[in-house]
Amino acid sequence: MSANEELKPYLITDPREMSRRVDELRRQGKRIGLVPTMGALHLGHLSLAIASKNECDVTIVSDFVNPTQFAPGEDYDKYPRTLDADIDLLSKIETDFIFAPKPSDMYPRGFDATVHVGGVTGLLEGSFRPTHFDGVALVVLKLFNITRADVAYFGQKDYQQVQVVKKMVADLNVPTEIDMRPIIRERDGLAMSSRNQYLSDDERRQALVLNQALEEAKRLISEGERESSVIYDAMRAIIESAPSAKIDYMHIGDPTSLREMERVCGNVVVLLAVRIGATRLIDNILIEK
Ligand code: PAF
Repeated sequence: MSANEELKPYLITDPREMSRRVDELRRQGKRIGLVPTMGALHLGHLSLAIASKNECDVTIVSDFVNPTQFAPGEDYDKYPRTLDADIDLLSKIETDFIFAPKPSDMYPRGFDATVHVGGVTGLLEGSFRPTHFDGVALVVLKLFNITRADVAYFGQKDYQQVQVVKKMVADLNVPTEIDMRPIIRERDGLAMSSRNQYLSDDERRQALVLNQALEEAKRLISEGERESSVIYDAMRAIIESAPSAKIDYMHIGDPTSLREMERVCGNVVVLLAVRIGATRLIDNILIEK
């Protein structure tokens, strides 16, 4: 191999082949790391794959736009599908496998199973997208079973998703460890997301209000503000300064149960969902004492 040549990840599309490969690797005592993604990879995903590379013997990145987590009318059809670019990006860090199954291989005719995690799915994203977390839990459990992952890496940007996956793993005795890694932001503070590419230049500028509102919440809390309503008012003023912004929710909650707190007490997570024009963005900040 020449110095400039990059090692392509091995592309697997068949779930049975993926399982056969990992069975072999597990027999050799290898620790398997999984990074579940829907593709359209950016540096946030790459940071998860690098964490896996550093801690595991084998890294699998799954690249699958999962139909069951989109409701009718959501962006399933227009969600960016960029497998070739994803493979190129993963080559740069010499990822071992990219698992990119077809929907019909994951959900063949007659597929009937469902996975529902209660509690933490009932609020925030769950109120706006009532079937979303059932679809996430279903595909994540399937990915864990197919890849037999020892550890799976998730980004903090989908904070509620990580809590749902942790609860599913605990309730169903799934032997996969869940590792949440920090949000990766653009230089100007916008959280990286595959959906950022839907934004026009003007909307992209307006989208900065999400991070600004979260930073303001952090500042107020660090200065001793405890009334959530005061913090919400300050955040709302920042967000509504963007003409195209519409708030779906602002939420100050317990970091694990996500139960809303009227008064800030101990560690909290502040979560936001805001529509900028037609694009719905989420972001959050963990504020630990
Ligand atoms: O966070 C995502 O990209 C998706 O929800 C996940 C975890 C890959 C399941 O499809």
